[in-house]
Amino acid sequence: MGKGDWLPWEIKSEFQYFKKTTLGHPIIFGRKTLETLGGPLPKRENIVVTRDTNYKTEGAVVKHTLEAAITHAKATAERDGVEQVFVGGGAEIYALALPKADRLYLTEIHLKPEGDTVFPPFDRSEWDEVKREFHKAKEGESADYTITVLERKG
Ligand SMILES: NC(=O)c1ccc[n+]([C@@H]2O[C@H](COP(=O)([O-])OP(=O)(O)OC[C@H]3O[C@@H](n4cnc5c(N)ncnc54)[C@H](OP(=O)(O)O)[C@@H]3O)[C@@H](O)[C@H]2O)c1
Repeated sequence: MGKGDWLPWEIKSEFQYFKKTTLGHPIIFGRKTLETLGGPLPKRENIVVTRDTNYKTEGAVVKHTLEAAITHAKATAERDGVEQVFVGGGAEIYALALPKADRLYLTEIHLKPEGDTVFPPFDRSEWDEVKREFHKAKEGESADYTITVLERKG
């Protein structure tokens, strides 16, 4: 799901889906991902996780553990009257957050690209698939993709 400091594909409509889904909700990023985005995403509380206690960045709240980031995100969600808090990657932060997640917005890209960062392995049998939606690549997009939403069983 990552190559260098960006994605190994270019799919504008899927990025728009990501933006639309997370709009208005607090979202947690690893420090590397926030930097690859070129700064915080607008119209939502961006929270960045770093071990660097001197780290400062414009427009994002800095936390030094995932737990502190989640606590802050939940307080923001309650203040803003929204029910979800998101984790937007990358791989290190997904791996830390996955055991705590109860919903996955997982997009399968129909491509086998070269990359250096992968989403952590997880056991699909622990999740119910509640949405599956195929999207044909639009002009200029690298590949078809399938949007899925998985919810933790039980
Ligand atoms: N396909 C997708 O949906 C998607 C989504 C997001 C990102 N990506 C890709 O993923 C790649 C980046 O992912 P990544 O795994 O290299 O980095 P990352 O998860 O974005 O950030 C890693 C950084 O998070 C901080 N961190 C990690 N564990 C921590 C902990 N336990 N406590 C405090 N801070 C902690 C550290 O920051 P410090 O070094 O500052 O201490 C670490 O260097 C890029 O290629 C990006 O394009 C893909």
